Amino acid sequence: MSKSVFKPNKEFAKTARIKNMCEYQALQEEAMEDYEGFWGRYAKEKLDWIEPFNEVMDESNFPFVKWFKDGKLNVAEQCIDRHLKTRKNKAAIIFEGDRGDKQIITYLELYYNVNRFANLLKKEFGVKKGDRVVIYMPMIPEAAYAMLACARIGAIHSIVFGGFSAEALRDRIEDADAKVVITADGAYRKDKPYMLKPVVDQALEGGSPVNKVLVVERNDEDITWVAGRDYSYNELIKSQEVHCEPEVMDSEDPLFLLYTSGSTGKPKGVQHNSAGYILWAQMTMEWVFDVKENDTYWCTADVGWITGHTYIVYGPLAMGATTVIFEGVPTYPDAGRPWKMVEEYKINQFYTAPTAIRVLHKMGEDEPAKYDLSSLKVLGTVGEPIDPPAWKWYYEEVGSSKCAIVDTYWQTETGGHIVSPLPGATPIKPACATLPLPGIMGEILDPVTGERVETGETGYMCVTRPWPSMIRGVWGDEERFVKSYFGDVKKNGKPIYFTGDGAVYDEDGYITITGRTDDVINVSGHRMGTAEIEAAIKKHPNVAEVAVVGKPHELKGEGIFAYVVLKSDDGVADEVEEVKAINNVIKKEIGNIALCDDIVFAPGLPKTRSGKIMRRILRSIAKGEAITQDISTLEDPSIVEKIENMVKSK
Ligand code: WT7
Repeated sequence: MSKSVFKPNKEFAKTARIKNMCEYQALQEEAMEDYEGFWGRYAKEKLDWIEPFNEVMDESNFPFVKWFKDGKLNVAEQCIDRHLKTRKNKAAIIFEGDRGDKQIITYLELYYNVNRFANLLKKEFGVKKGDRVVIYMPMIPEAAYAMLACARIGAIHSIVFGGFSAEALRDRIEDADAKVVITADGAYRKDKPYMLKPVVDQALEGGSPVNKVLVVERNDEDITWVAGRDYSYNELIKSQEVHCEPEVMDSEDPLFLLYTSGSTGKPKGVQHNSAGYILWAQMTMEWVFDVKENDTYWCTADVGWITGHTYIVYGPLAMGATTVIFEGVPTYPDAGRPWKMVEEYKINQFYTAPTAIRVLHKMGEDEPAKYDLSSLKVLGTVGEPIDPPAWKWYYEEVGSSKCAIVDTYWQTETGGHIVSPLPGATPIKPACATLPLPGIMGEILDPVTGERVETGETGYMCVTRPWPSMIRGVWGDEERFVKSYFGDVKKNGKPIYFTGDGAVYDEDGYITITGRTDDVINVSGHRMGTAEIEAAIKKHPNVAEVAVVGKPHELKGEGIFAYVVLKSDDGVADEVEEVKAINNVIKKEIGNIALCDDIVFAPGLPKTRSGKIMRRILRSIAKGEAITQDISTLEDPSIVEKIENMVKSK
């Protein structure tokens, strides 16, 4: 498998933070030889400590690891206050609304806005250090203020993506026992208002730990106000003081929770703590995007996902960069919108998901050529493997064959990138995440022996030593934390972090991620547990059994394919109605992002005699592949052919 190799742009490399592979190797060696020395050096260099730490890493209670022990700092201060000396009038945030409205927020303004917000939460709502605050917001600057305000007062934020339903929001509020929700009336999408507050109302119906809801009025549509519970941000913010003393936080005080899907029906609250997270957010921003003082950086993610946390808000602001927040969708009013924005704001680094690239390619192949994209230096992708045709278009048409493409591999749990090219150093190959970043002991291991796999052999993508931004826990579930991430692979007899992804080395030792090895699927870069979707479908009263698998999808990466066995065996009376009914349950339980692309009403599911559903067979059938595995051990082998025929005739 020999792929084309693209060397870094020489001009770019001259001023890059890591200029060549020798520098990369030197850093990686430094980390290998003196792991704590390496991290301690950066922690001192990059962060402003209120009190210094006494120990770099304490792994005596692995996997409960502590970084920068006894150090004191405040993450909001790292992102704002320390820049005021040299950057007070620099744009911290450039906001573009769906309808083209614009705002530029300087670091000094950000300081005032966040402090007012922090005072509001503290003084009006009584939010204290350690309290959980749920944020259910559109992509507006107030979402970033809300995050940083929580960080300033030591509250733990838990952002729930705006596409999740009331039920999903309720589950996350309850799991975190949050007292406050910050939301907006709604926002705009494709020039039309859409609503969020009614979803919050529904999520809080019938009792909830939440006693205060703060509503940012963005679209001024009519909403219901519950007296004594709901308050207008726009009103309350006016009278808040512009100074708010940052809470002194321990390195290991929690910064946020972010719920993500695993292989059970219940999402897990991934916990990240203060110092280690912000350190790696800043370091990867600097290394992987190589943002310079006068650059404008744009990541198109939503703050509801980890990419929005680390690479729209925390990373860029920690390094004092200018970050763009965009409310709209990339294809509205047409598929030239992002390129128009790149031209207008002279964007230097652009970071998006393969699914967006595929859609922009398909809907607007020639759009990039209509705009001046010469400001671009680094293009990033994240969230799923990118396919070579999309990569090629991105590289040639968007980047004019002169920009590095950084295919960044990471996860909610890793806090920041773990495998990625460095734009000034790493020769890149299409659709390849390349090498672990300096300091990250990323290795592809054989799950049985724990040995490094041979070239070309698929193994498990692992990180063999804890690193500063590693997940610190699953909220309220220690056992699940240990089992989910440290149970499957051992190296030299010791449990290590396993990502859940498969990966393979090529002849240059480059890493290509091959996809999840568990029952997690990736739809448009959104991670979803098949068990979660199954649990939702099972709530339909007529459903006896269900199995959900992923199926390759041209635009979304993976689509959702459900095999449903109904309770009544008189067949399906009205298939269209039944599909609608099932999708309605999903919409209610999870949200539109989890709607099925295909639903097949099967007479039964292929199971082993012990009752285990053979998902591998179902995956093959969904893909239209021939079944190669032995089906003779199934409880009812004839079911396979029946389902195959049903899928074929669809
Ligand atoms: C899963 C993590 C990372 C932020 C957005 C998603 C897949 C992520 C890549 C990549 C191939 C990738 C993995 C991973 N993934 N980046 N560059 N190449 N696959 O975060 O929701 O936690 O999902 O996304 O399967 O485990 P997430």
